[in-house]
Amino acid sequence: GRLVVLVSGSGTNLQALLDASTDPSYGARVVAVGADREGIEGLARATKAQIPTFVEKLRDYGTRAEWDAAIAARIAAYEPDLVVSAGFMKILGAPTLDAFPVLNTHPALLPSFPGAHGVRDALAHGVKVTGCTVMLADSGVDTGPIIAQEAVPVLPDDDEAVLHERIKTVERRLLVDIVGRMVREGWTVTGRIVHLGTGPI
Ligand code: GRF
Repeated sequence: GRLVVLVSGSGTNLQALLDASTDPSYGARVVAVGADREGIEGLARATKAQIPTFVEKLRDYGTRAEWDAAIAARIAAYEPDLVVSAGFMKILGAPTLDAFPVLNTHPALLPSFPGAHGVRDALAHGVKVTGCTVMLADSGVDTGPIIAQEAVPVLPDDDEAVLHERIKTVERRLLVDIVGRMVREGWTVTGRIVHLGTGPI
């Protein structure tokens, strides 16, 4: 299966997918990496792997709708079977969501702590257990149908960076597993429930 991965930062989730796809039996390969900003490590990881990249900056467009259309067109050029938003810090609009299935990861146990600061918010709330979520993106912020979750303990002297890295270790494994199963086995969505393994996509 053809993956387009969208990043906005370090790209360690992307790197996990790149590493997994070196195994031919994985069934998925990253055909392009897109970003909303230049100069991030995620783009460097793609270039190092000799994978095409594209950047679409919101500020280059007069309206959000024009950016939505632009990024959808860049993604479409690579004909993905699945788009993976892995640390991509923009909400994808209808042009993308209506054209492709989009997988998203979040470093908290949704519906708790959605949004751009899920790790910080969980820590501030004083939870003893947090985790990560892999879901299909919809038009909301971290509101799509959940596919997989895994709990991660919060330790007494955690700060945001330490806790986020502990979560990301789990998140990368969960994302690689789910992406592989989706492209190999297919999936269907009934309401808010995603069923994996219902035939090839
Ligand atoms: C991930 O934890 C993702 O869920 C969150 O930001 C982090 C991105 O990490 N939105 P990376 O860029 O994949 O290393």
